[in-house]
Amino acid sequence: MSSTAQKIIIDTDPGQDDGVAILFALASKELDILGITTVAGNVPLALTSQNARMICELAERTDIKIFVGCDAPLNKPLVTAENIHGKTGLDGITLPEPTMPLQSMHSVDFIIETLRREPEKTVTLCTLGPMTNIATAFLKAPDIAPRIKKIIAMGGGFFEGGNITPAAEFNMFVDPDAAKIVLAAGVDLTLVPLDVTHFALTSQEWIKNLRALNTKVGEAVASWTDFFERYDKEKYGSAGAPLHDPCVIGYLLRPELFTGRHINVEIETESPLTAGATVADWWRVTGRPANAFFLNTIDRDGFFELLTERLSLYKY
Ligand code: RIB
Ligand code: CA
Repeated sequence: MSSTAQKIIIDTDPGQDDGVAILFALASKELDILGITTVAGNVPLALTSQNARMICELAERTDIKIFVGCDAPLNKPLVTAENIHGKTGLDGITLPEPTMPLQSMHSVDFIIETLRREPEKTVTLCTLGPMTNIATAFLKAPDIAPRIKKIIAMGGGFFEGGNITPAAEFNMFVDPDAAKIVLAAGVDLTLVPLDVTHFALTSQEWIKNLRALNTKVGEAVASWTDFFERYDKEKYGSAGAPLHDPCVIGYLLRPELFTGRHINVEIETESPLTAGATVADWWRVTGRPANAFFLNTIDRDGFFELLTERLSLYKY
């Protein structure tokens, strides 16, 4: 890790794509990972926490502090995605039972304590799942929002619509009330929506190259994406799995690989038909104040070149 490393907290619901994002971040010397905070999402909290431990052990990074967070959305019953991620949330390969500990402090308290301790505007939150932990921290400690440097959140969709419903992307759908709080918090927020992640598609050649690394990490990422890809292939007919969460780390490391627009984004929280839909005022017709940098293009080849370069740094 370099002395000018960016301090980050990764909030996550692993999930194969979360796993790739965490491995991507752990291999990047530009980043100082202060902690990983788990949340319920793709699978229930016990499994997302277990999976976070397995991913850090796969990376041989048992120094990483993992905190357990909220086990359900603010105001809705938890909806999970075993149909996509499998029963364990990391289907595709069987990893050894983890032995590294979970921290005793709750994720929300870790987020609050870290933001109060670290100098103002020096910590970036990278959210890869429903934003329940972040919103709960804002409700419990409103003083921390202005202390955050930036939030980069995988979530939402506009031109690409939704993935769990026609209108809503999964992270936003699971906890729209949490997303509403974060959107209103006045934080420097970048949203990484399906409009971008649906174009961060793996390929069989890429998976083959990963396997050719002959490392545990290469094999795990190849197996996860092979498993994860089947759902999107069947649904969209796409050749490849969308690497949603790794786009958050890619943007953090090389923002120039993406384009976007600073616009107003609101979220539907009430309608049974469209709950979780992100209403992105891309054409600025509402006059509502801009509250997010909403990404809409990715340099796919540049992204995969960077991701492959970092995953290749693992020698085991
Ligand atoms: O819609 C994609 C998002 O939902 C990703 O973060 C994936 O891991 C799931 O959490
Ligand atoms: Ca996720």
